[in-house]
Amino acid sequence: MELKGKTIVITGAARGLGRAMAVRLAQCGAQTALLDVNEKGLAETRSQCEQAGPQSRTYPVDLTEESQVEASFQALAGDFGALDGLINNAGITQDGLLVKAKQGQVVKKMSLADWDAVSHIDMRGVFLCAREAAARMIELGADDGARPSAGVILNVSSISRAGNVGQTNYSAAKSGVAAMTVTWARELARYNLRVAAIAPGFCRTAMVEKMPEKILDKLRAQIPLGRLGDPEEVAHAAQFVFENDYFNGRVLELDGGLRL
Ligand code: CAA
Repeated sequence: MELKGKTIVITGAARGLGRAMAVRLAQCGAQTALLDVNEKGLAETRSQCEQAGPQSRTYPVDLTEESQVEASFQALAGDFGALDGLINNAGITQDGLLVKAKQGQVVKKMSLADWDAVSHIDMRGVFLCAREAAARMIELGADDGARPSAGVILNVSSISRAGNVGQTNYSAAKSGVAAMTVTWARELARYNLRVAAIAPGFCRTAMVEKMPEKILDKLRAQIPLGRLGDPEEVAHAAQFVFENDYFNGRVLELDGGLRL
């Protein structure tokens, strides 16, 4: 896909990887529709995207609410009159051990609230956005051709999908994201839509920087390249997925060579 002039939705665009990917796509000439709950962060990302040239708009939305997601996609499809891609990036962590015990006594358990919060945003939100994006792309891309619509859904999974200590909820969700990627690539190819994922490792974002210092140091030492990833490097990978029309149904691992 040639990004210039295309309209791409980015969720979780208020900061971190979402902001980096939005700005990168804007620099490639794409118009950006920015979704997040954080309105202040959205406004800052929008201004960075517009500095690159193309139009950018913001849509404050709780991605776990079906009606809000539907309304946002309806609004942005009307505003731009087109939809060519989605980066399904929004996600949170609520880390904790499944069960923490000391001298045979259980002192802590992962709460159901922490399980639900992560699975609602990282999996249900991803499902809702992909569903609405696919529906709109099929409708807006319709013409008389044999395979009329053309578009891309890029999901953001994680190295943690392999299973990571303290991340029962997040690992399960990110593994679900990888599985949904393969499913949707198979289902949506008939509409000429590609679906792929990126699985970033540990990158310089607020999410990673809030990890306990000692654990992050230990992890950093295990990364063959010896450093955290840069959000710009993830954004570069996102650009690749959009531009390479043969990349489909696969998870691109971008982790400096770390294996959990
Ligand atoms: N690998 C190996 N051991 C780990 C570990 C890890 N990633 N995380 C925790 N442990 C161990 C600790 O070393 C500790 O072992 P000891 O009892 O032998 O000292 C034990 O688990 C308990 O840990 P804490 O004392 O820290 O327990 P806690 O209840 O205070 O906190 C925790 C538990 C919240 C899970 C905390 O350890 C933690 O935040 N760990 C990091 C989890 C992590 O890797 N998160 C990644 C966030 S970034 C991200 O997710 C982005 C992405 O996509 C990659």
